[in-house]
Amino acid sequence: MCGIVGYVGPRVATPLLIEGLKRLEYRGYDSAGVAVMNGSGVETVKEAGKIARLEALLATTPVHGTTGIAHTRWATHGPPNQKNAHPHMSQDGNIAVVHNGIIENANSLKRMLEKRGYKFMSDTDTEVLAHLIQETFDGNLEDAVIEALNQVEGTYGIAVISAIDTHKIVAARKGSPLLVGLGENEYFIASDVSAILAHTRQVVYLDDGEMAVVDRNGYRIIDLNAEEVLHKKVARIDWDLAQIERGGFAHFMLKEIFEQPHTVENTMRGRLLLDEGTSKLGGLNLTDEELLAFDNIVITACGTSWHSALIGEGLIEELARVPVEVEYASEFRYRNPIVDEKTLCIVISQSGETADTLAAMREAKRRGARTLGIVNVVGSTIAREADGGIYIHAGPEIGVASTKAFTSQVIALLLFTLKLARLRDLSLLRGREIITGMIELPQQIQQILDRAEEIENLAEEFKRASNFLYLGRGYNFPAALEGALKLKEISYIHAEGYPAAEMKHGPIALIDEMMPVVFIAPHDSVFDKITSNVHEVKARKGRVIAITSRDEPALEGMLDYEFRIPETMDILMPVLASVPLQLLAYYVAVKLGSNVDQPRNLAKSVTVE
Ligand code: AGP
Ligand code: GLU
Repeated sequence: MCGIVGYVGPRVATPLLIEGLKRLEYRGYDSAGVAVMNGSGVETVKEAGKIARLEALLATTPVHGTTGIAHTRWATHGPPNQKNAHPHMSQDGNIAVVHNGIIENANSLKRMLEKRGYKFMSDTDTEVLAHLIQETFDGNLEDAVIEALNQVEGTYGIAVISAIDTHKIVAARKGSPLLVGLGENEYFIASDVSAILAHTRQVVYLDDGEMAVVDRNGYRIIDLNAEEVLHKKVARIDWDLAQIERGGFAHFMLKEIFEQPHTVENTMRGRLLLDEGTSKLGGLNLTDEELLAFDNIVITACGTSWHSALIGEGLIEELARVPVEVEYASEFRYRNPIVDEKTLCIVISQSGETADTLAAMREAKRRGARTLGIVNVVGSTIAREADGGIYIHAGPEIGVASTKAFTSQVIALLLFTLKLARLRDLSLLRGREIITGMIELPQQIQQILDRAEEIENLAEEFKRASNFLYLGRGYNFPAALEGALKLKEISYIHAEGYPAAEMKHGPIALIDEMMPVVFIAPHDSVFDKITSNVHEVKARKGRVIAITSRDEPALEGMLDYEFRIPETMDILMPVLASVPLQLLAYYVAVKLGSNVDQPRNLAKSVTVE
C-alpha cells in the first residue's frame, strides 16, 4: 500500500534509503524501517510513526552497508506499531522482506509454517513471506522468492535481501507498483519514481507477474510464470526534483492549488484545435469510426476523481448526446453492470493505482468494453492497462487532498467531449466558443489565486463551525461535493455537498444560525433557481457564504460573505468555482492546526480494496 525503496551499489545505503522514504512521505504512512547488509548479516531498524523517529533511532543504532531495502507502511494487518513495521525478518535472521499489498492466504500459510516450527513476531500478513522464503531458500535468493510466491495469493510489491546470497535485491510485483532505477554502477528499487528521481531518470517499470534481480553489475527482469528473462523498455522520466518539492509554499497542497493556472494549461497544451473547434488527443487509440460506434459510456472512479466523473457525465450528455453512467469503482463490479463491446469505459484516477478503480477497469474489460484512462501518473498501472488514455499532465500531486488533479481531470474530460461532440452534432461555432472559454481559464484561475487572502480571512471567521453545507446546481453540484470533501479530509469538520434544490427534501432540517452554507451561485443558467435556495436558508437563519460572479440585486441582504469569481460558460464554471473552495478548506485546516498534506487516516493512493 505504501512505499518501498531499495539500493545496491558502491555507496552507503542508509542515507539514500532514508532520503527515498522521505520522498514517499506524501503517500501517507504509519511506520517505517530499513534493513541493510552489514558485511556479516542483515540488520534491521524500524519504528512506528514518522520517518524522523526512524532517523533518531538510526542515530543511536546506525546500520552500515551498501545494499539495503526500506519501507513506509500503511497498515492492513495488525496495528501500526514498531513490531509490525517492515522490514520483516525470517526466523533465521538471514532474509529481510518489505511488502506493499495484502497476502490473502496469510492465515493458512501461517498455520502451516507454525506447524513447521516457525515463530511469528508480528501481526502482519507480510511476515509469512519472510519465513516462506527461508523455507524455500537453497542458496539462491531469486529461486527461493519464486517458489515462495507460488504459494501466495493476494497482491504484492516486494523487495527482499539475504545475508547468504549477498549484494543483491530481489523484487517482484503483483498488484502493487514497483520499478527499477538504473544508475551508474548502482541500482534502485522503488514503488514510486519520486523516491529515486534525485539519482536517476532511467527506470524500468515492472508489470504484474514480473520479478527484478539487481546487483552492482546490472539487473534482470524475469517473468515469474515462464521463469524467463524479459527485455523491457527503459523509460525516461521528465519530472524534475523541483517539481516534487514544496517550492517555497508552506504545504504541498497550497503549492498545488497555486499551480493550477499552469497545470490546467498543461492539460490543454497542444490539444486544442481552435479553427476546427475540436481537440486532438494522441493517446485514445480509437479511430473516429470506433469512437462513434459506442452506444453508451460508463465513467468509473473514486473520491475526487468520481466528482470529476460527474462533471464529465454532464459534459458528454449535453454536448455529445451519448448516454453516460457514473459509477463508484468500488460498487461497479459487484452489481452486474450493463457493459459490453458497445460500451466505452472511462476510468479516472490521479494516481493510476487505486485498487478499486483498477479492479473496475479490469471488470469492464472482461465484459468486452473498451477502456480509456484519464490518469496523472505516467506509467501507472491504470495508464498501462487501459486500451487508450489521456494523461492530464498535472505533474506530481503530493498533497493527499487532490486539487490540481481535479481541475485537470475536468479539462481532460472536456477535451474528450469536444472531440466526440464535434464528430457528432456539435457545431463548429460552439466548439470554437468552448475552446475560447477554455483558453481564458488559466488567467481566470490566477485572478482568484491573487485574492487568496480574502479566503484566508473568511476561514478565520468560520473555522469554529462544526458542520458545513455546500450547495450548487447543474455543473456546480459536483463542485459542491468536491468542496465538502476537501473540508472533511483536511480539517475534519463535517461537511455535506448537495444539489441546492434537494436541500429542502432533508438537509434543510439542519439549518440554524450555527450552520454555514456555501452556495456556488455564479451568474449562469440556473442562477434564478439557486437564488430561491439562498432565500430558504436565510429564512432559517443559516449563515450564507456565496461564490458569485457579479453584483446580483436578487441576493442583496442575503449574504453573510461573498467571494467573486470571473464569469465563464456553465460548463467551465466548476473549474473556477472549485479553486476558492480548495483554498477555504486549506486555510480552515491550517488554522485548526491539522496536518494538511498528510491528514489522519488517509493515504494518497488507496491500493487496497
Ligand atoms: C482526494 O482528495 C482523495 N484523497 C481521494 O478521494 C482520491 O481522490 C481517491 O482516493 C481517488 O484517487 P485516484 O484519483 O488516485 O484514483
Ligand atoms: N499488508 C502489509 C501490512 O499490513 C503491508 C501494508 C503496506 O502495504 O504498507 O503490513
